[in-house]
Amino acid sequence: MPAAVRNIVVLTGAGISAESGLDTFRGPGGLWEGHRVEDICTPEALARNRPLVLDFYDQRRAALGRVKPNAAHEALARLDAKWAGDLLIVTQNVDDLHERAGAKRLLHMHGELMSALCEGCGGRAAFGGAMLDGPECAMCGEGGGVRPDIVFFGEMPYEMDRIEAALAEADLFVSIGTSGAVYPAAGYVQMARHFGAETLELNLEPSAGSYNFDESRMGPASVLVPAWVDEVLRG
Ligand code: APR
Repeated sequence: MPAAVRNIVVLTGAGISAESGLDTFRGPGGLWEGHRVEDICTPEALARNRPLVLDFYDQRRAALGRVKPNAAHEALARLDAKWAGDLLIVTQNVDDLHERAGAKRLLHMHGELMSALCEGCGGRAAFGGAMLDGPECAMCGEGGGVRPDIVFFGEMPYEMDRIEAALAEADLFVSIGTSGAVYPAAGYVQMARHFGAETLELNLEPSAGSYNFDESRMGPASVLVPAWVDEVLRG
C-alpha cells in the first residue's frame, strides 16, 4: 500500500455479490444465459417487449429478499465507518447489499433494483414491488410509465462527474469483482493511474483489465476484501 493514502475509490462489480448467491453476468450460469442481453437491458427491448423486461427485473428484485450481504460487503462498510479520509464506493451492482451491510459513501452508477424511474416526470423513487402490476409513479401519480431504475446498454451511467472528480483526487483505486468488460467503469483504472493513484485489483481470476493494475490479487471477495480492509485500517 502507498505510504500516504488518504483518498480511496473502490469500484465493485457482480463478483462481490456472487458469494451472497446472486449470479454474475458473464460467468458460467451467468445471468444473461438464456436471455440475450439485447433482449433485456436496452431501451429498445423495453419499447419492444415491456412485460419481458419488467418481469426480468421484478424477479431480480424479488431475489434480493432471499440473499444477504457477505463478508466482503461487511468489510467495505467497516472501512466506510472507520476511514477518516475520503472514500467513495462506486458500485456497478444494482443490488442493495452494500447499503444493507451499512455502507454510506456509496454510489450506484448503473442504477438500483429497489428504485423506480418514471418515464413521464423523470422522477426516481424507492420501489419494492412488482412493475408488471403497473404501479403509479410515486412522484407524479401517472401510471404506465414506471420502469426499472437501471442504466441500460446505450444509456448514460449515473453520477459520472462525481466519480471522475473522486478519481482525480484518489491515492488508491481498488477494483473488486468486476470483469472489466463494460465501459466507462472498465476505464476507471487507467483514469485513476493517470491522476497518480496506486491501483489494486481483487478478483476471483485475471480480468480483461488486469494488466492495467499495479497489483492484482486473485481469490474470493469474501476472503480478499476483509484482509485488504484490515491492511488499510492498520495503516
Ligand atoms: N469473488 C471475487 N470475484 C468474483 C467472484 C468472487 N466470489 N465470483 C466471480 N468473480 C469475478 C469474475 O471472475 C468476474 O471477473 O467477478 C467478475 C464478474 O464479472 P461480470 O459478470 O462481467 O460482472 P460486472 O463486471 O459487474 O459487469 C459489469 O455489465 O451487464 C453489465 O450493467 C451490468 O453492471 C454490469 C456490468
